[in-house]
Amino acid sequence: MNSGWIKTCYIKISSETRRGRRARGADRTEERSKVFGLERCMRIAVVGSGYVGLVAGACFADMGHDVILVDNDPAKLAALKSGQVPIHEKFLPELLQRHRGQKLQFSDDLHASAKASSVIFVAVGTPPTDRGDADLSYVESVAREISGAIDGYKIVVEKSTVPVYTSEWVRKIILRNGAPADSYDVASNPEFLREGTAVTDFLFPDRIVVGADSERCAAVLREVYAPLSEGTYYKRPDSIPGPDRAQVPPPLIITSTKSAELIKHASNAFLAMKISFINAVASICESVGANVQQVVKGIGTDSRIGPRFLNPGVGYGGSCFPKDLMAFRSVARDCGYDFRLLDEVIRINEEQRQRFLRKVRKALWTLRGKRLGVLGLAFKGGTDDIRESPAVLLIQSLVQEGCSVAVYDPAAMDRAREVLPASVEFMTNSCEAATGADALLILTEWEEFATLDLSQIARRLHYPIVIDGRNLYDPETMAAHGLSYYSVGRAPALPEGSPASTGEHLPDDHKTYE
Ligand code: UGA
Repeated sequence: MNSGWIKTCYIKISSETRRGRRARGADRTEERSKVFGLERCMRIAVVGSGYVGLVAGACFADMGHDVILVDNDPAKLAALKSGQVPIHEKFLPELLQRHRGQKLQFSDDLHASAKASSVIFVAVGTPPTDRGDADLSYVESVAREISGAIDGYKIVVEKSTVPVYTSEWVRKIILRNGAPADSYDVASNPEFLREGTAVTDFLFPDRIVVGADSERCAAVLREVYAPLSEGTYYKRPDSIPGPDRAQVPPPLIITSTKSAELIKHASNAFLAMKISFINAVASICESVGANVQQVVKGIGTDSRIGPRFLNPGVGYGGSCFPKDLMAFRSVARDCGYDFRLLDEVIRINEEQRQRFLRKVRKALWTLRGKRLGVLGLAFKGGTDDIRESPAVLLIQSLVQEGCSVAVYDPAAMDRAREVLPASVEFMTNSCEAATGADALLILTEWEEFATLDLSQIARRLHYPIVIDGRNLYDPETMAAHGLSYYSVGRAPALPEGSPASTGEHLPDDHKTYE
């Protein structure tokens, strides 16, 4: 640290008071600090214990900081305190176990937590309104409450995805509620973590973006991220293992607050655009008999384009892309720019589900009375999140069209039970879902769905038809296992001697006529 004025940092010494409250924890913390080579840590409050807040809080604690995670939901706090892990996220249980009650405390008292902290990260929800823009009322009420707790220099950091200009509003609200103008700064530090790999995305990021409008504020946030940006975290024997392609230490990019706010929306919009782009190309491939995987290889090896986020499928879902694209479009409109490119990205994404339904109809002819095995409920592999999941939306449409559906997902069954029609059957594994089905649909890119026992699947299915919305298999391999295989942006693969894909698979008793 280079600035004596940063009161936010303190040397890790045990004081009588701290000993009184968490004597054992503090001693262990001090021990850990020595092991980590850390001399200083920051007092951080993270407001909101959703995906971003919980992961950020646990990771900040693992980086050596003292963290209070604040939430106003008593049930959530009680669960966290008692050792439960509310989301399916690799390494999160280990981090919570490591730091709970020591470097990671939980509290429902925002005022006291803000008072005790130097940096306050706001990670509360920003759900979409009916107009598609972000509802910032939670952010506003947190800003109001923090205002009364500012009794020395503090930084309030937006961690939630928010529209550009939110920082200005947060600044105004804090001022209006009585905090002296020079006693705080508002910064933006967008998060780029993906569900399922959130912990490693946080600790091994491609980049850290800090939007700060004063050098004083930027210096404090540099300090918060120093264990990552200076690389000390990665030298620790107990650091969380990084992904193979991790480039450490990550660059820390300092921008203005507004630029940082825009970086978040623009990043998500660009990634969604890549997915819609390749889905549109996949549709052309289907029309002309080209192979989208070959096209992806051909364009993705251009280093200016890159191969990632070019997997065609049933469209993007989740709690981020759909919501953020609408919000970004709305922000642009408010600024006087009609961002029609985003309209098209959203339209292609919705159309992609309809195209998949047409594919199912084409393979099975009519749908009423058909039994379908479905693999996948989560919006993507590696998570139990079903928000805006294309799989769930497709199942709802199939049930509406009169299909009976048997589903399996390794993690998202409980959540899906709450939203799917009562007629949907929940099976205990992939083979069970396939048993007796007229076709097997793959809707989520779970690794275990890419390594199915194909011979057994072929035997279990009533008709050996697989319709893969995630392109997990090589068409020739599927045909060699006796399966008629339909995927995205590639020609169907039919086993030798099989009937064409026009309902000829079906004996008369299985055909329905309207
Ligand atoms: C996304 C971004 O990737 C993160 O960088 C960002 O921090 C996060 O939103 C957020 O704003 O909080 P996430 O929603 O967890 O992360 O999921 P992604 O891995 O991006 O996948 C989103 C959707 O796109 C999924 O439905 C996935 O199946 C689909 N997808 C992804 C494709 O269809 N094709 C691809 O090539 C990649």
